[in-house]
Amino acid sequence: MPREKNTFYVTTPIYYVNDVPHIGHAYTTIAADFLARFARLKGLDTFFLTGTDEHGQKVEKAAAASSMSPQDFVDRVGGHYLKLWDKLEISNDDFIRTTEDRHKKAVTALWKTVAQKGDIYLGEYEDWYCTPCESFWTEKQLVDMKCPDCSRPVEKLKEQSYFFRLSKYGQPLLDHIEKNPGFIKPDYRKNEIVNFLKEGLRDLSVSRTSFSWGIPVPGDEKHVMYVWFDALTNYLTATGYPDDARRSEKYWPADLHIIGKDILRFHAVYWPAFLLSAGLPLPKQVFAHGWWTVDGQKMSKSKGNVVDPYATAEKYGVDAFRYFLLREVPFGLDGDFSEKALAGRINADLANDIGNLLSRSVTMIEKYRDGVIPSAEPSAEREELEGRVKFLFKDLPHQFEKAVEELNFHEALSKVWAIVKELNGYVDRCAPWKEKDESTLSTVLSTLAESLRILAVYAWPVMPASGQKMWESLGIDKNIGEARFDEAVVWGSTLTGMKIRKMPPLFPRLQ
Ligand code: ME8
Repeated sequence: MPREKNTFYVTTPIYYVNDVPHIGHAYTTIAADFLARFARLKGLDTFFLTGTDEHGQKVEKAAAASSMSPQDFVDRVGGHYLKLWDKLEISNDDFIRTTEDRHKKAVTALWKTVAQKGDIYLGEYEDWYCTPCESFWTEKQLVDMKCPDCSRPVEKLKEQSYFFRLSKYGQPLLDHIEKNPGFIKPDYRKNEIVNFLKEGLRDLSVSRTSFSWGIPVPGDEKHVMYVWFDALTNYLTATGYPDDARRSEKYWPADLHIIGKDILRFHAVYWPAFLLSAGLPLPKQVFAHGWWTVDGQKMSKSKGNVVDPYATAEKYGVDAFRYFLLREVPFGLDGDFSEKALAGRINADLANDIGNLLSRSVTMIEKYRDGVIPSAEPSAEREELEGRVKFLFKDLPHQFEKAVEELNFHEALSKVWAIVKELNGYVDRCAPWKEKDESTLSTVLSTLAESLRILAVYAWPVMPASGQKMWESLGIDKNIGEARFDEAVVWGSTLTGMKIRKMPPLFPRLQ
């Protein structure tokens, strides 16, 4: 990751608390976790943020339906996310809630800055509003008089409102996108935003008087701020804005906002426009990933097919679930989740490939060398045996890093797993259990141990517990999280003399 600063700031969306977490929430957060773990391995000063979006009409209505105050409601339901992130080994450095004082302070400061710039004015709007999406639509944009995003009913709202001069920022945004080809990814999503901008922007209503669960507009407390103005600012709040300028300048602009494709417009149009108005730098990249269907169907509460990430991880294992989500589908595209596909991946890639490689290697070291990892012996065959495997690992750091930088997790993992398969083939070909001279056998076993040590480093960002267990099996007591990628993936005979530890299979086969 060549970069101007030695920092890496990655965010997920902040999730609405009125609903229970689903596979989509887990997906973004696991992807961000992978990147944060990898950035730490690369020695970057990493800041990984996630949190919850707790204001807005939707939450106010959900709280009323549960006969609770909005604050009690968000305090109770927000806990689902914390419990899930703990379960899924998410290594976030901060967890922001928009009801916290530090956030109210940051949003108020940003509002005042934008207002001082002359970009906020009082007006009146009359438009169609979709509460579930917290979005306004003109009559022309509606499809069969329903929300064009989610197809749910919309309601007509007419009220006094503050407006943000979004119309002023269409051209500056187009210029920015052109100058910074990496700003919106993937490219097909960038094209959608460019087309949207070219149609011209209307000013954006950024306050409400029809409900009160939000952050008051400074100087006019009848109004609360539009929930997206409030929510997007979380990315700045967590850097210490506005009080801790040093910290804020250290991490801002964010390197990456990872989001789902449905909330791209908010992140690639509204958010950068607010920042331009406030004179703040824009995030370096906004990456929109695709959506999961379930058994070929759109996931929805009414269909009762919402995938519960906690229960799935509980049933199949946290690492297997994390691996599946990042390996199954190229990040950016839509994908289909089914328990059958998950079980298939577990049996093929995890039980048969990596789990088997570890267990057969450890078993042979136990059987033929009393559990002590031998050194690769100089022999005519050494070049052929060890040299070939060493060669496999030679280009991997570069290939892996490049794929990760492009958020192409699918590609990064398939490169690693290609080597795992190759190594299982190597064991079959060398057949160390057959008559072998002692030095050849030592070379094969040493080569396998060193390969597994390196593979554990590559596996760790996606499967932290399993990567660590691989090291433990090889007798390494260090924490992979404290390793440095550039050194840890270099081939060497680092494990000679270590005592292996037999462990239960990493990934038992599923029936
Ligand atoms: O949008 N597959 O919060 P949210 C993949 N609070 N991802 C999915 C999905 C699916 N089937 N369904 C939803 C919000 N998502 C705002 C964000 S950020 C300043 C404020 C993703 O709880 C969706 O794309 O509705 C989005 O990224 C997230 O889940 C929605 O979270």
